[in-house]
Amino acid sequence: MSGPTVSAAHAAAAGGWVISPVRIPAADGGKPPAAVGPSTDLSACQALREAHELELWGNLDRCPTLAEALEYWRGTGYEERRLYLARAAGEPAGLCSVTLPLRENTATAGIDILVDPAHRRRGLGRALLDYAEAVARGRGRTSLDGFHEVPLERVGPGTDMLPARSGAGALPLSDPGTAFAAAAGYGLEQVERSSRLDVPVARELLDRLGDEAATSAGDYAVVRWHDACPEEYVAGYAALKTRMSTDVPMAGLDWEREEWDPARVRDEEAAWGRSGVQTVVAAAKHRQTGRLVAYTVLNWRPGVPGSITQQDTLVAGGHRGHRLGMLVKVANLRQAQERWPSVRSVLTWNASENQHMLSINIALGFKPAGYEGEWQKRLG
Ligand SMILES: CC(C)(COP(=O)(O)OP(=O)(O)OC[C@H]1O[C@@H](n2cnc3c(N)ncnc32)[C@H](O)[C@@H]1OP(=O)(O)O)[C@@H](O)C(=O)NCCC(=O)NCCS
Repeated sequence: MSGPTVSAAHAAAAGGWVISPVRIPAADGGKPPAAVGPSTDLSACQALREAHELELWGNLDRCPTLAEALEYWRGTGYEERRLYLARAAGEPAGLCSVTLPLRENTATAGIDILVDPAHRRRGLGRALLDYAEAVARGRGRTSLDGFHEVPLERVGPGTDMLPARSGAGALPLSDPGTAFAAAAGYGLEQVERSSRLDVPVARELLDRLGDEAATSAGDYAVVRWHDACPEEYVAGYAALKTRMSTDVPMAGLDWEREEWDPARVRDEEAAWGRSGVQTVVAAAKHRQTGRLVAYTVLNWRPGVPGSITQQDTLVAGGHRGHRLGMLVKVANLRQAQERWPSVRSVLTWNASENQHMLSINIALGFKPAGYEGEWQKRLG
């Protein structure tokens, strides 16, 4: 593991904080998530994250469970992930993390910073950022990205906004995350809209939207699965996931195409399984060629029984304009409602400039919930 540079360590020491790597119990040690004790650094990070989510949203719908966090921070063969905890007088005060893609995007690193409200505006956020940037720099990364969310209610009429470089969307300048990232030299490349759908969706609405989509999509058949992609589709599914990594609007973000193959699909499925995450997928198959050309994914965690998160949705170029986006979304909502009857809402995130996806979601009944800023800084 790379540590910080000497100057970053000094910056932390100057404020009286101690920043140290969080040790993640090894998967092959046979330690189940329940064995992560309440006094471990990982549990302290989880408590900071949950307190922040509750303060921001009043619920934990967006918060990874401890089981997900444990699995996530172990990293994969595709991404190394490092988590660090800051303590002040021995008490958890903040955290930072660095994610390092290993196959592609090897010049980039993902950075995240969180400071407990009781410790803010004393320089700890900046010390954690210096620390994380030093780790990324030490690994040869030259383009750093981060994101943070702002609930809709925090944007009132007349709020001063920072526009995204993409030309669509903006974040309130008064928000601490916005002020902090801008002061640290990060550019707001893109703003995503987060939206929420009340579930169950009325059967009549799903029937009407599904029937309308089916009339334009006669050349396509819907294929569905739970958790594991059927072997006959996995190569086609991997090819679609490769396209997903570049076909969505990315503004000026330095993200390269990810190469997905069946092994990578299986790796992701296995990681979700170990995290307790369940998935439903609906895909569209082109009848003439037998190829998968569109798909959408919903995730559910037993620890958050009332909420589903929307993952990828993609219609491959060349097959757009046949309402396949709506076709697969309706099919997947139906199977999600059947499989997870406790669910009361679906959360989704879309680039503000992604009008096609947004209009499908609006027709389904999604309502705006907030904003997510995508920040980027290139190191000199
Ligand atoms: C954003 C966050 C990490 C800042 O932590 P912090 O310890 O308060 O930050 P610092 O004290 O190091 O502030 C560094 C600079 O950021 C800016 N800043 C930070 N918070 C600010 C606020 N509430 N209003 C205006 N400027 C602010 C200032 O320029 C500040 O320098 P200054 O104090 O000399 O004026 C903290 O508010 C937080 O955890 N927020 C929730 C998570 C989040 O948004 N993370 C950022 C992801 S991009």
